[in-house]
Amino acid sequence: MFKDIVVAFDGSKHAEAAILTACDMADRYSAKLHVVHVPELHDQAIAVGASAVVLPVDEEALQESGQTMIKRAEQLAKGAGHTFSSTDILPGAPGDAILASATEKGADLIVSGRRGHGQLKGILMGSVSQKLASSADCAVLTVK
Ligand SMILES: Nc1ncnc2c1ncn2[C@@H]1O[C@H](COP(=O)(O)OP(=O)(O)OP(=O)(O)O)[C@@H](O)[C@H]1O
Ligand SMILES: [Mg+2]
Repeated sequence: MFKDIVVAFDGSKHAEAAILTACDMADRYSAKLHVVHVPELHDQAIAVGASAVVLPVDEEALQESGQTMIKRAEQLAKGAGHTFSSTDILPGAPGDAILASATEKGADLIVSGRRGHGQLKGILMGSVSQKLASSADCAVLTVK
């Protein structure tokens, strides 16, 4: 049933669980596995007198942190006996970038964590997992 599975990885515990679940689904359906990460270094600001100046995001640092994240995802998949058919580090808003990647891969399943690194513990789902579940053109599995 599932031939191409995209798993969204942000390095959080929920996303680690998503990788392991995606590996299990790939086993069951003999599917290809794709991983996508969207680096999220937030703008930094420095105080200048009474106001603040936003420093530009360092693109190189962004790519580097992306590579580290993909390596971690690859380690987890390897532990479950898998290698990814593709690894993507994409710019932009995470939800949109993950959806675009899923379309590009012709994915029939997206696996994500229920939460990520966000601090709003009272809310059931993060904004990215919510976006994926509500807007994807394919099935979505949200993992705790
Ligand atoms: N930048 C990202 N790159 C790849 N996958 C991501 C990214 N951000 C989130 N995800 C995926 O979405 C899942 C849910 O994360 P989400 O960001 O929705 O929750 P949160 O961080 O707790 O909340 P919020 O970001 O809304 O404060 C993660 O476990 C991961 O699978
Ligand atoms: Mg988040």
